[in-house]
Amino acid sequence: MLGTGYLGATHAACLAACGHHVVGIDTDPERVALLQSGRAPFHEPGLDELLSRGVDSGRLTFHTDYAAAARDCNVHFVCVGTPQSAGSSAADLSALWAAVSSLGPLLDRPCLVVGKSTVPVGTAAHVRDRLRCLAPAGSAVGVAWNPEFLREGHAVEDSLRPDRLVFGAETNEADQVLRDVYAPLLAAGVPSVHTDLATAELAKVSANAMLATRISLVNLLAEVCEAADADVADLTTILGLDERIGSLFLTPGVGFGGGCLPKDTRAFVARAEELGLGEPAGLLREVDAINMRQRARTVDLAVSLLGGRASGCAVAVLGAAFKAGSDDVRDSPALDVAATLGARGAVVRVFDPEARDNARRVHPELSYPDDIESACRDVDLVLLLTDWPEFAGIDPVSLAEVVGTARIIDGRLALDPDKWRAAGWNFHALGRSAR
Ligand code: UDX
Repeated sequence: MLGTGYLGATHAACLAACGHHVVGIDTDPERVALLQSGRAPFHEPGLDELLSRGVDSGRLTFHTDYAAAARDCNVHFVCVGTPQSAGSSAADLSALWAAVSSLGPLLDRPCLVVGKSTVPVGTAAHVRDRLRCLAPAGSAVGVAWNPEFLREGHAVEDSLRPDRLVFGAETNEADQVLRDVYAPLLAAGVPSVHTDLATAELAKVSANAMLATRISLVNLLAEVCEAADADVADLTTILGLDERIGSLFLTPGVGFGGGCLPKDTRAFVARAEELGLGEPAGLLREVDAINMRQRARTVDLAVSLLGGRASGCAVAVLGAAFKAGSDDVRDSPALDVAATLGARGAVVRVFDPEARDNARRVHPELSYPDDIESACRDVDLVLLLTDWPEFAGIDPVSLAEVVGTARIIDGRLALDPDKWRAAGWNFHALGRSAR
């Protein structure tokens, strides 16, 4: 397993749990040491247990050295990160090419290299050609693509019980290797789709583009609801009852963030432009723009509720992670809004049950109290920006006694406006009536 981030570490632990011998390889020695001690370097329910079981069984080991580790393996999964490039919306494939360059010269016998990283369509064919130049085994090195759809916070269950497995392969032999690797999941009835390399690469970015589009569409509807004095919560309930639409991924608010949806949407546009499809890809440019607009709209609403200026006001932000169940703050709408209010002169206190350390590393200028009450003491405004279940359970009567002014923005449609208003709160949510 080349790369041990959310994807590689989870996949390594899950394949070890399936009975395989797995070597996780990463260039970061601290990460490797932590994983080798059976602990995940990030918050992911169930992963520590699976890692320690794998390590204790002897089937799961972690290394920093490609040469020592990869040589004896039959299947090499490429799980390195493909973040957004600095200065462009395209994916940065430098870690992918570094992994290919390190691995290629070691491949001196028939084996399969399987891409799991999210890449622009067409990358797999380049990886195949490059490996065949680099590898002593030449054309005996096969390449397949097997995208991963795991969600942070559900990574283990999504890996062991995925909705589907996608095998992008050029030969029956490569497809058979993937069937063997995933035999326990296939035997348990997980559906599999067998396709070509390009379709498999596209599967991941397309799924994320569809999810991102859905969220931006409900955020557009929220804005229309505000202008028309309608209620977006009722509207999405109505939409979700349509079986063709379904109710998941229909929650409007401060928008999507994280290490995947934002950068994959942008990378999709960049790749479509390269393919001469810049015009139709305008849909996804707008999806990104609507999403970023939610953060600006939340800041604007906060500033207007504070009387037109944030400077000198005390604000509590509940949530720093990009979503509940994760300590990941990459491209987090919550932390972005908190930092913007801070930059405008507000004194911002952020509380998050898991993401505090990661948030502090990125925004040390904000303060991070230990609990909800300390974050909210004497503030002029509370913003709920990550959908942690404990925030939905806050008692508005008790919290009203702690704050300076009982005024709240619910950026995740997590609270019952009637209950909060009855407790004396000035309650606001994007897309909901201000009455
Ligand atoms: C996503 C995909 O779901 C997953 O299949 C892929 O492998 C990686 O990218 P993840 O980044 O873990 O997973 O987050 P996800 O649960 O999809 O949420 C993404 C963002 O959308 C979060 O910021 C979340 O708060 C937001 N969101 C989600 C909404 O704003 N509204 C919703 O209704 C659902």
